[in-house]
Amino acid sequence: MDREQMSNEENYCFDVAGYLIVRDVLTREDLEACNRDIDQKGTAPLPESLEKLRDHPVLEWYLNQICGEEFQLDRKPRLIGEAGNDVGSPLVGGNEPRDLARSYYQQNDARFCQGVLAVWALEDVDEGDGGFVLIPASHKNYVETPEDVLTGADDMGLTVQPSLKAGDLLLCAETTLHGVRPWQGAGPQRLLAYGYIAKTARQSIDADATDEKESLPEWMAELTPVQRAVMQGQNFHRAYPPPVVKSDGKTCRIDESSGLYHPSLYIRDPESEIEEKELYFWDLCGHLVVRNVMDPAWLEAANEAIDKFADQIVVGGAPDKGSKTLAGTGRPDLGGLFELPKPYCDPFREMIAHPAIIHRLNWMEGSGFRCGNATAICSVKGTAGHAMHSGSDPARPGNSYMFQNGRTYCDSVNVAWQLRDVTEADGGFICLPGSHKARYPMPPGVQSCDEPMGLIRHVSMKAGDVLMFMAGAQTHGAYPWQSETERRTVLMNYMGRHMVL
Ligand SMILES: [Fe+2]
Repeated sequence: MDREQMSNEENYCFDVAGYLIVRDVLTREDLEACNRDIDQKGTAPLPESLEKLRDHPVLEWYLNQICGEEFQLDRKPRLIGEAGNDVGSPLVGGNEPRDLARSYYQQNDARFCQGVLAVWALEDVDEGDGGFVLIPASHKNYVETPEDVLTGADDMGLTVQPSLKAGDLLLCAETTLHGVRPWQGAGPQRLLAYGYIAKTARQSIDADATDEKESLPEWMAELTPVQRAVMQGQNFHRAYPPPVVKSDGKTCRIDESSGLYHPSLYIRDPESEIEEKELYFWDLCGHLVVRNVMDPAWLEAANEAIDKFADQIVVGGAPDKGSKTLAGTGRPDLGGLFELPKPYCDPFREMIAHPAIIHRLNWMEGSGFRCGNATAICSVKGTAGHAMHSGSDPARPGNSYMFQNGRTYCDSVNVAWQLRDVTEADGGFICLPGSHKARYPMPPGVQSCDEPMGLIRHVSMKAGDVLMFMAGAQTHGAYPWQSETERRTVLMNYMGRHMVL
């Protein structure tokens, strides 16, 4: 490698999404040798052409940066999906509860990831092929992953199947939720995975470990079972997890019924009125879509009101900031919706304190928020997109997101009411899930969407849906409007009680 450090783009991508794709690492000769060997010799034992990918210099270079120097191999190489072993199993990973031996850390520009999965693409993997999947940003989630998301029964639209070209290297934090779905591709799935851990991290159970039990010093035979369990916890017992020794403060006992024991001071509050999957999604992504809030009559009244005052729509500047992808004409807005004459203001005033919104704002930012003005975004075909903006780096008042003691803290929430259906082909709202926890500066190519690094997501919605997103903390923007039908989104902001603007 001809450079000393990963670029800010690479740091940003790995930090926000929990994975990074390094393109074109293997040569055509490498690939031919690997695929020929798999076809002719199989993978047990692993042919040398595959074995040597373990120490590939490009992989080593990245592992030194991500995992730290003196990283070590933790999991033997395996072809993902081979023999169907891991296909359809629940996803593994996630950051709650936190596993310090695999976690991702970032503070003051220092970063290390205790466990990294390296996946070599030996053949192309196209969109829709299935196979290896992951959930971006889940290496930082603070809320326990719902069972339905793990099993895929209801993945909430979060699962991503990365597209790879033969020769690409995918590096994934081990705590980024990942798994294997059935393979649908035309050719064979040829993804070779190696697992690495940091120098001091505990090895996985199925690592090269032997069953050898180190012999105990004689004096230990004189100890009580509890004393022996504590002495053996780390040094003499290779099985994981080590024995659980519980205590009520007066006596100690070995509890063989639990694998891990780490008490929490807090218990879930069934009275909190928080829907747990929503909280998970909000914490993970930085936005939430509440479906079907407006009924047809309400939608009709709101659209009619905008039609009625169409002559007051003002075309502003194009917020594309010179982007090629987002270029277009100025954005048409209709402001002052609450002050329209009766009855045209009514469908918008109805939005101010709608229970579906107030209910969620209370757990998102706490009580005492205040609603600003409402503006209808009325983009026409050719209206420019909006360059990506906001995000949690650099930190400043108003753009932070925190989860502490079961509460989310976000001091500015935008609420966007959809008066018409919106699909990705139409354009409109886009966001960068996980960017409310970003710790590196947003790269220029992400801001312009010209080099999105696979991080940007469009949010499709139906008329009547309401989008809530972290106005200051989540990086968001809009694609240019491509539909013959005008965009109809009513945008409102709720500022938290702490902010004075
Ligand atoms: Fe914005």
